[in-house]
Amino acid sequence: MRSGSTGAAGRTMKRVLSGIQPSGQLHLGNYAGAIRQFVEMQDTHEMFIFVASYHALTSSRDAAALRENTRQTVIDYLAFGLDPGKTNIYLQQDVPQVTELAWLLSCVCPKHMMDKATSYKDKVDKGLPASMGLYTYPVLQAADILSVDADLVPVGHDQVQHCEITRDLAQKFNHYYGNVFKLPDYQLREVAGVLPGVDGQKMSKSYGNTVDPFLPEKRLRKRVMQIKTDSTPLEAPKVPDTCPVFQIFRAVAGDDDPRTTDLRQRYEAGGMGYGDAKQSLFELLLDHFGEARRTREQLMQDSEQVELLLADGAKAASACAGQVVARARQAVGL
Ligand code: TRP
Repeated sequence: MRSGSTGAAGRTMKRVLSGIQPSGQLHLGNYAGAIRQFVEMQDTHEMFIFVASYHALTSSRDAAALRENTRQTVIDYLAFGLDPGKTNIYLQQDVPQVTELAWLLSCVCPKHMMDKATSYKDKVDKGLPASMGLYTYPVLQAADILSVDADLVPVGHDQVQHCEITRDLAQKFNHYYGNVFKLPDYQLREVAGVLPGVDGQKMSKSYGNTVDPFLPEKRLRKRVMQIKTDSTPLEAPKVPDTCPVFQIFRAVAGDDDPRTTDLRQRYEAGGMGYGDAKQSLFELLLDHFGEARRTREQLMQDSEQVELLLADGAKAASACAGQVVARARQAVGL
């Protein structure tokens, strides 16, 4: 487990924090948009990756489902390649200092800052209950980030505003109380948001259009066959870049992979039906996620191993959060 030096100065590697809300099995959108990048950063950064279980309470009313989704998210993180020897993996609820920090931050947070946050309105429009938790969601997220003195937060477009709010809150607090919080930067992911789902819209759990690489083989094949394609006849040349089958293929295999180049040529040459392209995608998924699928099967049977690594992760995150909260308490006069 990497815990490194907790002070921001004198750190050898940049400290990265990110989290995902537990909403069930992770899908290709989560993988291509976020987790693959976390896996790639593991050797060069000090990583804190958590499951945002407190945030999930803004939408969940089902205790059993939340518990199960939380466990599932950890297992999927591991199956996709997060290595607990390199990355601190933890549950938000195991670092309760985060909620204390959220309170201290909310006391310097002008109400209009939350009024301006777009995700609250979007989520209420989608039918989520308009709770105070949902309203102040960005303050809790700021607490996550500031609690470990993170240097860098890798994000998709939808989270940029939350990172800016985090910086604003840290600056406000520091302005009133002295230099308590480290200002984190964010790193925008280019691929985020572009992966289409089976209906061609952005792949998202809330649209019910995800492709889940951990499905049993038969169901995975069926899912891939459901991807929407146009009615270009078999003989005609096809346009790869606007076809969701090709877009998903390319996102998984990568641009430079010979299999991507080959599939592109088959589209452009004509004489290939979309069924064949889907079969190629299905085979790619089995190959690319073969090890992940096996690891996941094995972890599903080994809850003890999962608990042990979560305890380690929580210990590392709490060690940081404890210091940050102590600084903040001292600064405000508690
Ligand atoms: N809001 C993020 C999402 O929905 C999840 C999240 C919570 C998060 N706390 C965070 C992401 C801190 C990055 C950093 O995806």
